[in-house]
Amino acid sequence: MTEAAFTPRVFSGIQPSGNLHLGNYLGALKRFAEAQDKGLETLYCMVDLHAVTVWQDPAALRHATRELAAGFIASGLDPARSILFNQSQVAEHTQMAWVFNCVTRMGWMQRMTQFKDKAGKNAQNASLGLFAYPALMAADILTYHATHVPVGEDQKQHLELTRDIAMKFNHDYGVDFFPVPEPVIEGTATRVMSLRDGASKMSKSDPSDMSRINLTDDADTIAKKIRKAKTDPAPLPSEIVGLADRPEARNLVNIYAALTDQSVDQVLRECGAMPFSAFKPRLADLAVEKLAPISAEMARLMQDVAEIDRILADGARRARALAAPILRQTYDIMGMVGAREV
Ligand code: TYM
Repeated sequence: MTEAAFTPRVFSGIQPSGNLHLGNYLGALKRFAEAQDKGLETLYCMVDLHAVTVWQDPAALRHATRELAAGFIASGLDPARSILFNQSQVAEHTQMAWVFNCVTRMGWMQRMTQFKDKAGKNAQNASLGLFAYPALMAADILTYHATHVPVGEDQKQHLELTRDIAMKFNHDYGVDFFPVPEPVIEGTATRVMSLRDGASKMSKSDPSDMSRINLTDDADTIAKKIRKAKTDPAPLPSEIVGLADRPEARNLVNIYAALTDQSVDQVLRECGAMPFSAFKPRLADLAVEKLAPISAEMARLMQDVAEIDRILADGARRARALAAPILRQTYDIMGMVGAREV
């Protein structure tokens, strides 16, 4: 199959499970805005149906979905140029997910490390939805014939599965119907690490709020978290090899590079040999300069949730118009009577 046969279309999603953080911003939101600003066709989804694969309090989910939408807009996503919507409002996602449940093999799902991590020791008590999660994710992407999917490093395995699902469907039915989408995992911040532990990734679910910078943090909190970030006693190296065994130092340099749109080499040319007592305040100033306006804009947008709901409803309507014919054609390929337009 030649991917060139498909018009470039970008799709990605974020779970509205609260605590939107710097990793989500640098690994996803900032890059979503860059794709939009390049003039590509972009769809971005608050994946509320994915969020409920683990328990969500209804009021908290409602709040987190609106806050995530505010985070998208505050990060530069323009609802006129990008389609912004919440997953549950476009039924085609779940309809296509069922199709992919039937394409995906149990063995493929059993290999998913995110399921193992999230289900933990008590996998028998995890929801069936958590197990089937990657099929819904494949449906999110393929229901739009999306060709490019910007994500952080932790989503790589899910995207490989999406590619396998697309190829298996095409092969089983002898068609060239679904594109095999490209993961776009680029830049210096594809895996932002915890500020307390350079070995674990910055995450919404880390019990320590000091481990992450939330997009809702105010300037003082951001500065305090960076000041207290774990580091080692040595100054920054002047070359990238010097970061090899220093995960905390490498993480802060990566964050600095991503916030300034520079390479790690460029940052080390500028800041090499600096002690952390000098680098941390510099990083804190930078983070405040870049993130405080986002947090302020999110707070402003959250004062008018009716407007956010209107934006999401408009996005869902536009998304449905793209998804419906692709689902219909999928059903028709599979032999579902009534799917073909008469
Ligand atoms: P989620 O909600 O966990 O994360 C949203 C995005 O943020 C990225 N990310 C990070 N990037 C860098 N450093 C980090 N520490 C970090 N933490 C999170 C994630 O890689 C992701 O890009 N399954 C997805 C949501 C999803 C989706 C989709 C994505 C559902 N359907 C279709 C793409 C296409 C998830 O749980 O992301």
